Amino acid sequence: MSLDKARYSVICTSAILGAVVAGLTLFPISTVRANAAPDSAAVTATFRTKCALCHGPDGSGSEVGKSMNVPDFRTQAVQKLQDAELAQVISDGKGGMPSFKNSLSTDQIQALVTHIRTLAPKK
Ligand code: HEC
Repeated sequence: MSLDKARYSVICTSAILGAVVAGLTLFPISTVRANAAPDSAAVTATFRTKCALCHGPDGSGSEVGKSMNVPDFRTQAVQKLQDAELAQVISDGKGGMPSFKNSLSTDQIQALVTHIRTLAPKK
């Protein structure tokens, strides 16, 4: 009888341990996922504060931007360009487009290129 009880508690303990281990294993994954959202929110915020003034929040070009002939980010003309070409214009500037290499990190510029891709119409 007491042996049965001991076995029972061993089973219970290992079940609890198993659950804790599973929880610890899965927890970091959910943490990583949770961090992905604020990151893209940060890019959107950067785009709105630094780019939307000319390019508009949706990339189509603001009133100011249109007067400067900004390209519409949603069109093929822009979307067909390579990531490196877009990154270079953001970094070095071009015509009325200011250079951002002193105010944005290469990671931020790369994230903005990814953001510009999200502005393309969904197929
Ligand atoms: C002061 C207005 C202004 C601001 C602010 C601005 N841009 Fe521009 N941008 C332009 C203009 C004007 C052009 C067109 C340049 C040309 O082709 O002569 C342009 C072009 C571009 C292009 C190249 C598109 C192509 O077809 O070659 C990219 C990419 C771009 N901008 C991204 C950005 C990003 C990202 C930001 C924010 C970090 C930003 N721009 C902020 C005015 C602006």
